[in-house]
Amino acid sequence: EKVVLAYSGGLDTSVILKWLDLQGYDVVAYVADLGQRDDLEALEEKAYKSGAKEFYIVDLKDEFVKNYVYTSIKFNAVYEGRYLLGTSLARPVIAKGMVDIARKTGAKYVAHGATGKGNDQVRFELSVAALAPDLKVIAPWRIPEFFNVIKGRQEAIDFAAKYGIPVKATKDKPWSSDENLMHISFEAGILEDPAKRPPEDMFELTVDPKNASDTPEEVEIEFEKGEPVAVNGEKLSPAKLLQTLNEIGGRHGIGRIDIVESRYVGMKSRGVYETPGGTILMAAHRDLEGLTLEGSLINLKDMLMPRFAYLVYAGYWFSSEMDCLRAFVEESQKYVTGKVKVELYKGNITIVSRESKYSLYDQMLVSMDDDKGAYNQADATGFIKLNSLPLIANARRRDK
Ligand code: ARG
Ligand code: SIN
Repeated sequence: EKVVLAYSGGLDTSVILKWLDLQGYDVVAYVADLGQRDDLEALEEKAYKSGAKEFYIVDLKDEFVKNYVYTSIKFNAVYEGRYLLGTSLARPVIAKGMVDIARKTGAKYVAHGATGKGNDQVRFELSVAALAPDLKVIAPWRIPEFFNVIKGRQEAIDFAAKYGIPVKATKDKPWSSDENLMHISFEAGILEDPAKRPPEDMFELTVDPKNASDTPEEVEIEFEKGEPVAVNGEKLSPAKLLQTLNEIGGRHGIGRIDIVESRYVGMKSRGVYETPGGTILMAAHRDLEGLTLEGSLINLKDMLMPRFAYLVYAGYWFSSEMDCLRAFVEESQKYVTGKVKVELYKGNITIVSRESKYSLYDQMLVSMDDDKGAYNQADATGFIKLNSLPLIANARRRDK
């Protein structure tokens, strides 16, 4: 039987590949290119050396950024107030690519290397359930015959050596990371103690804000219907745009967070994230909404956002609730077109200017210097009177 394995080329998925091969499966190794800076060229050879029968690498960078990251930006989505969901957003697009390869190769099984303790297993498997419920999922980290043999890193290295799987001679990092165009996440290992600060040499995309350039840098971002389309006047594809902002933001130490978050499977975990470009986009987008959206719509978006973030985090990208939320957010962005200029300086983003042909801002209306416009201050008296009625009624009742 054929099985499509979501393969990264790392030690874990290499060992899983060989293990599936030993179980008698014909393994189709599938790599989703989401902009992780791995040596993707070397992966094919490595997959075959690890026992793969077929190998596919799929460039999902623009799809990931356009349909997943940008949707999240349109929502200004943050999980538990801080996490920009870089890993959570990547899982459904990886799963969708995996299902496509299963269809193409006729495989009836799919497999992944997520552990039984995390969110990722849920995201992969809920996505597969929604897209292709006939496919069966193999999750080796939840199978005793696998995890009783591969108990830890040393066993994995020994297993790899035994079967001639090339293992990179890199020093074992005392944490685990996950990278795509939106972010790098760091968890586990020495990070498991939330009372201890992560080492500076862990960070890859951003410099320490303390060591960032002493010269502030202005960046202009242009949006069309809520979607980022250009940086400093240059039109860029979604993947290029985010990569450009990652580089600019990275040198100013933008977008680091260190949090304790609530995993969907019930436990707390400590995570450290670097999301330079995404953090800039979020700040700029939010600001443009201030200029172009009615206050009541901003309020509605702000109410629905935590639900969207929760659904992304928990793995419900492909669900009816999500389809409705996406339709809502698209409609909300009709007039979110314009330019925002930000200044980056030692980890901070300062909004310096914004403009839009759909601006709702009316200087005549708001200015205290001009009283000739459409707004008559005397009208506010009646406005406040009517709004006071229920408050007065309640106060009278209380005083009875
Ligand atoms: N805690 C984050 C999330 O659930 C990051 C998960 C990192 N995953 C990984 N395979 N390293 O979205
Ligand atoms: C894992 O456990 O596979 C990574 C962490 C997570 O999915 O939350």
